[in-house]
Amino acid sequence: MDKLIIKGGKKLTGEVSISGSKNAALPIFISTLLAPGLHEISNVPFLRDINTTIKVLESLGGAVQGNGNIVSIDTSNINSVEATYELVKTMRASVLVLGPLLARYGRARVSLPGGCAIGARPIDQHLKGLKALGAEINLSHGYVEATAKSLKGARVNFDMPTVGGTEHIMMTATLAKGDTIIENAAREPEITDLAMMLIAMGAKIEGAGSDTIKITGVKQLSPVNYRVMPDRIEAGTFMIAAAITGGDVKIKNMQLGDIDALIFKLLDTGVEITNKNGVVKVKGPKRLKSVNIKTRPYPGFPTDMQAQFMALMSVADGASVIAENIFENRFMHVSELMRFGADITIDGRSATVKGVKKLSGAPVMATDLRASASLILAGLAADNTTEISRIYHLDRGYESIEKKLAALGADIQRVKE
Ligand code: UD1
Repeated sequence: MDKLIIKGGKKLTGEVSISGSKNAALPIFISTLLAPGLHEISNVPFLRDINTTIKVLESLGGAVQGNGNIVSIDTSNINSVEATYELVKTMRASVLVLGPLLARYGRARVSLPGGCAIGARPIDQHLKGLKALGAEINLSHGYVEATAKSLKGARVNFDMPTVGGTEHIMMTATLAKGDTIIENAAREPEITDLAMMLIAMGAKIEGAGSDTIKITGVKQLSPVNYRVMPDRIEAGTFMIAAAITGGDVKIKNMQLGDIDALIFKLLDTGVEITNKNGVVKVKGPKRLKSVNIKTRPYPGFPTDMQAQFMALMSVADGASVIAENIFENRFMHVSELMRFGADITIDGRSATVKGVKKLSGAPVMATDLRASASLILAGLAADNTTEISRIYHLDRGYESIEKKLAALGADIQRVKE
């Protein structure tokens, strides 16, 4: 197993380029199941979750080939409608194959994902949506089995804006008969990106990016070439890396408008952010100011940036209250941040972070994807050496993060444990 060794205290400077979005690429890959033929997806990041999605598609009979950041997916010969426990347990997003397979083949069988490190994460809303479209759903032996002679458009009102649920029903409804209206839809930019891919395939979709999405079913969709949007969470993580080290970093290939909630909070902490010809410059202040955040569905503050922002607040002047409203168990990084000397107390779904002058490097353990990023950020700001173990979480969602940070002047190395 690999671990990261960081010698902290270096101000980051220079230029970094943001990779394609993991969370957009996953459903985009899966949506190729809706149209038989050869699709070409570009700006794909090299990540473990992408490899898992490729394995899922291959297990269904898809033929996948990579050439740098371009991936060709041929879905002409799909010969299975089952996603196994082995695949779904490694990556929850695999459940998104259920609806597209059902829409194309009238039947699909997919393992239930179960809980994960950050909470229970049920898929009841996905199943509610599929049932509304006319699917018959049976749960047995840990699998969801869905069948439908034909799917019919319907009104689907989600109990909460779920990203995966919205993507799942939007994809499935493209091939249902008539109109589907998704109410209380999630509005994340990755949903809009998926909608743009589906529209390019011939789907009729209006309102993606708002809380009401209308999908008018079509008889068939065609394969396309599509470029994945930049990863806004990776971009946000590099913005915080610049801020926490008092650095001065230029970020290329990011879409500034996708992460406004973070940008406004960073400005409040005293970070300078300027945008010149699409290159975003982030300059950290001598001493950061504390601000409070509450995670919310988009356009609110993203839960996927909560752990990284907490690392930042652990060295800010004053106290910050961080409320996690999306997942019930997403404070596992707190005890690890405290090993750096951070002063944090948790009360239910809120954490109070009292900024300290300096963090001190420590051996720590990564617990989930974004928690791993927060430990790297703390390590960059801390004095002495930090060792982060269990970094396989990191490889699920950040492309070459240690190489990108090293190019900005960080002293960071990956070593075999
Ligand atoms: C996606 C992102 C993840 C991000 C999350 C919230 C991907 C691959 N992952 O996850 O990085 O942290 O959005 O922005 O895009 N819920 C239910 N029932 C359901 C579905 C969801 O109760 O059927 C709950 C969840 O437990 C959670 C909340 O709704 O509390 C939001 O989850 P959701 O938006 O669905 O997250 P994911 O799509 O799994």
